[in-house]
Amino acid sequence: MTTTAVDSKEFRNVIGHFMSGVTIISTHFDGVDYGMTASSVCSLSLEPPMVVVCLNRQIPTQTAVSNAGVFAVNILSEKQGWLAERFGSRRDDKFDAVEVVRGNSNVPVLAGSLAHLRCRVVEKVEAGTHTVFMAEVTEAFSDDGRPLAYYRGAFGRFELQQNAEAYAVLRRAVLDRSYDVDTPLDPLRLVDDLGLPIEAVHDALTRLVADGLVQRQSFGYVQQPYDIERTQNSFEVKRIIDLAAADLTVGRVTPEQIDELQRLCDEIALQINGDEILDIDQYQDASAAFQEYLVGLTGNDMLIDTVRRLSIPSILTHVPGLRDTTPAHMGRNRQELVEAYRAADLERVKVILNRQSDLVTSEWALVIEALGGKL
Ligand SMILES: Cc1cc2nc3c(=O)[nH]c(=O)nc-3n(C[C@H](O)[C@H](O)[C@H](O)COP(=O)(O)O)c2cc1C
Repeated sequence: MTTTAVDSKEFRNVIGHFMSGVTIISTHFDGVDYGMTASSVCSLSLEPPMVVVCLNRQIPTQTAVSNAGVFAVNILSEKQGWLAERFGSRRDDKFDAVEVVRGNSNVPVLAGSLAHLRCRVVEKVEAGTHTVFMAEVTEAFSDDGRPLAYYRGAFGRFELQQNAEAYAVLRRAVLDRSYDVDTPLDPLRLVDDLGLPIEAVHDALTRLVADGLVQRQSFGYVQQPYDIERTQNSFEVKRIIDLAAADLTVGRVTPEQIDELQRLCDEIALQINGDEILDIDQYQDASAAFQEYLVGLTGNDMLIDTVRRLSIPSILTHVPGLRDTTPAHMGRNRQELVEAYRAADLERVKVILNRQSDLVTSEWALVIEALGGKL
């Protein structure tokens, strides 16, 4: 046997960078259902249609597939992470409360999967700790939905770039009130405006409905109006997250992170001249980057995601005659914040965050009131 320079721990870590989908291999043998989570599934040939799956010889499902000679590949949707967890551990109740559909040889297919293949083993090879099964596909079915992804030991979502782009651009347009709030959003016009396919536009609209920014009505999609209460709630959630992030990070950040915060603060300052904002889009991008970096110092992606999804209007700077609560003042606030972070002065950081939040909340209430209570 030859020795290798790569130990198994290192190999596991490195190969984990290869993102994959997630399947459950299911089979039935001797009156018993078997199933296990597997990512080592790959298409082998188109004519005839064949797949390869690699199963550890110590796993009961491997023995059952070997004996039955048939199995199914259930390709999991992003909603089935719980099934991947369940079938990825040794337990006897894997199929409890799981709806299945049986085909030839009683092999169970998991209802709600994104797709499935029924397969018949034609060849198997032993390699390392695993058996490599080569199997012919006898039935193939796919449904609409999104796949479950697996990357570096964690489950996640896969997203088409065009969908991410459509969502980001449309979300911004809605927050900016780029489209008249009293007119339904026309998907075909959005296709033209964004230069993206209709599927991406529909996906973005569906997500904006879930975010509470858009409503689906019988006559189409309409933007959810901002009122004072809704806006104040969003600002309050943001305040709580900012304060919690400060609790977790002040005094624990590295000098490099403080330098980065300062750099992001300077980027905002570049867009301010006295009380005038030079480029509104760049100013908003820079402000968002600063805010997200602060929360991101916690290392908690879900917090950043929550901040991003808050329905905080960004239209203020677009309303004629109204401006972001005196840009110069906000700029000074942010600079003070960086200095308080540098001094590891938690109390000071909290005072600034509260002051900023109070200011923006009350300013917004005035704006919405001035515009008739709704925006
Ligand atoms: C995302 C994921 C992918 C996996 N892929 C494979 C695989 O391709 N082959 C394999 O033998 N085990 C794989 N496993 C491990 C098995 O699912 C795990 O050993 C399971 O406990 C086997 O079922 P058993 O408990 O009934 O033996 C994977 C686990 C997870 C969570």
